[in-house]
Amino acid sequence: MKQTSKAISVYLAGVLYILMSMNHPMAGEQKGESDLDRRVTELLGRMTVAEKIGQMSQVNADGDKIPGELRAALKAGEIGSILNQVNVDVVNEMQRIAVEESRLGIPLMMGRDVIHGFRTVQPIPLGQAATWNPELVQKGARAAAVEAASTGVNWTFAPMIDISRDPRWGRIAESFGEDPYLTGVLGAAMVKGFQGDDFSQPGNIAACGKHFAGYGASESGRDYNTTNIPENELRNVYLPPFKAAVDAGLATIMTSFSDLNGVPASGNRFLLKQVLRDEWQFDGFVVSDWASIEQLSVHGFTANDREAAYEAASAGLNMEMATSAYASHLPELLDEGRVSMAELDAMVADILRIKFRMGLFEDPFTDPSDYPAIANEGHLAIAEQLARQSIVLLENRNHTLPLAKEALGSLAVIGPLADDPYEQLGTWIFDGDPAISQTPLKAIRQLLGDRVSVEYVRAMETSRSRSTAGFDEAVQAARAADAVVVFLGEESILSGETHSRADIDLPGKQNELLTALHQAGKPVIAVILAGRPLTLGDIIDDVDALLFAWHPGAMGGPAIADILFGVEPPSGKLPATFPLMVGQAPIYYAHKNTGRPATPEKFTHMDDLPVRMPQSSWGFASFHLDAGYEPLYEFGYGLSYTEFVYSDIEVSDSKIEMGEEITVQAVVRNEGRVEADEVVQLYVRDLVGNVTRPVKELKGFQRIRLKPGESRRVSFVLGPNDLAFHGRDMSLITEPGDFHVWVGGSSNAELQTAFTLVAEQSRSSN
Ligand code: NOJ
Repeated sequence: MKQTSKAISVYLAGVLYILMSMNHPMAGEQKGESDLDRRVTELLGRMTVAEKIGQMSQVNADGDKIPGELRAALKAGEIGSILNQVNVDVVNEMQRIAVEESRLGIPLMMGRDVIHGFRTVQPIPLGQAATWNPELVQKGARAAAVEAASTGVNWTFAPMIDISRDPRWGRIAESFGEDPYLTGVLGAAMVKGFQGDDFSQPGNIAACGKHFAGYGASESGRDYNTTNIPENELRNVYLPPFKAAVDAGLATIMTSFSDLNGVPASGNRFLLKQVLRDEWQFDGFVVSDWASIEQLSVHGFTANDREAAYEAASAGLNMEMATSAYASHLPELLDEGRVSMAELDAMVADILRIKFRMGLFEDPFTDPSDYPAIANEGHLAIAEQLARQSIVLLENRNHTLPLAKEALGSLAVIGPLADDPYEQLGTWIFDGDPAISQTPLKAIRQLLGDRVSVEYVRAMETSRSRSTAGFDEAVQAARAADAVVVFLGEESILSGETHSRADIDLPGKQNELLTALHQAGKPVIAVILAGRPLTLGDIIDDVDALLFAWHPGAMGGPAIADILFGVEPPSGKLPATFPLMVGQAPIYYAHKNTGRPATPEKFTHMDDLPVRMPQSSWGFASFHLDAGYEPLYEFGYGLSYTEFVYSDIEVSDSKIEMGEEITVQAVVRNEGRVEADEVVQLYVRDLVGNVTRPVKELKGFQRIRLKPGESRRVSFVLGPNDLAFHGRDMSLITEPGDFHVWVGGSSNAELQTAFTLVAEQSRSSN
């Protein structure tokens, strides 16, 4: 279908607003926006109540046929959006019915979970976060958008920007981890990747920030569980990524399933009205999560679906996903005057505005031949680059890695995740194609060629197997080889929605397998594929090197092989803290200091405690008797094959006035023998606040590449807003006082300086 013929067919349908639109460009200028408002108002003025409520209804329709009932509903203009349809012919037919057969010809939003790639699966979002590379994440989202758009999908339910500080929660896999700043930067990058500068252009699709808000704080990491988040913490930690995404032009937002402080998100007026609309002036629309309006009653917040529809509509929730509380009950709520026509119109207008901005009225149809081939080389290269930069080197004793290809005669490759095209893809891969996957085993064989013999033993059927029947064969292979690379972790199904775990050790008998391999006496390199941070304390003595590869996606194999053999040094950094023991969760670097912070002097492990507590004041500090107070690997951590040394930290001024910028600089030097990337991180501590401030907060980062011996002065500018926080009365404030600042390669950075922020008048008196 050519653009013009499509436009003409819509034109011929005789819809007045199409005629209007032909004279008026849409994309964002003042004039365009006021034309847009006129178009919305004009269209709204012609809609019946049923048509308005239709726009607020999203229906799941994933079959290859359009059932008669659905066809009739589309024709009657009673559906605003479809989810889960990716057969382009069916999509086009649905759009045709909506546009040509319904009275007002309003096109459909076609929603789909395009979470980390489409057909070409990229690393899970938590892995993408480990790249600390917003430009690359943006490219990944663009590639996913183009593939999805070629099937008629015009709306993705991503990015997921829930702050996730509990690795038990299965949905941490879909997130960018624990930090508000990193999540905000990467969330905004994904929004730009999906939507482009002007999302009416082909290949751009609407993004959806989710889940608003606080879902990641689910008690005990159990999915859908209650959250209790004080407003101050909500504003300082959980909401900033959403604000960053809104500022980046985010079109839509999805409410969370969860109950926030007693008011489930889908009926939460504070979140949806006060914060989103009044404070942030968000002018996109809000969609519920699957059945989350009807679930207001299951929460015990409303008595029935009618009341649930009332609460959601009164909160301004624009569109209902999958269920029909709105369709069934909004008419009577209107009749009773409990929901006003003005409220209804405002909710529908938000949806129409996005549809106009998306250019759907001009061109709702999809011709796959307008798009590049799915899983083309460019998209595979982006997936590979994301995977390569996401891999984190956690341990590397005696420079075990990189393996020297030339010095290797034979290699044992062991483990259930070495050669499983599906399991390396991770959660949410509805449209992914495992046939595209290049497994680590295949990539290692390819890289080594015929000269090195590679013996593969799966050893366990799945990561969860409790049988040790395959261990002997694995150990024999290990004994016969020069080195052992063992692929362990979690299958895809062990993380993602609903798939939380209370124990985050390597499942099954994997620890025992590692111990057996270690005893074979050859260097053991463990590569972990998983959807969450795991507790790895028990295995580190059994490995010589440890790589964490997340679920790396279709191109995980070549990416891992390149890192193993030093084609590229590892450069991923942890976007979430790795606890020593699961009982430490939730655990995160940006914690508060407490009144009794732990220090090495104050901590005694329970094994060393006397039988009775001494009378002295020894040890009254915040720690666990068995786990101490530090994680196994801190946020921002990740080794390289080279060594980066940080020095010469300085601030542009030791005193700045309120409203001024300050520049922080430090020198990074590559003291090793290989060229490599380093993610340079900037942390700040506000020493005193009218509400207590975290011990460290990430405020900037840069990925740089240095040759051996090369050094670079890296510069960060902190503006007034970077030092602001929501204080006791919830307003955003910047307070005068002392700040510490660190630059380094992880949140344990030691290179530190300080500056003072003074109120304007006090500077002159100095
Ligand atoms: C439920 C999930 O919570 C949400 O993230 C997803 O987008 C919807 N289902 C649609 O599949």
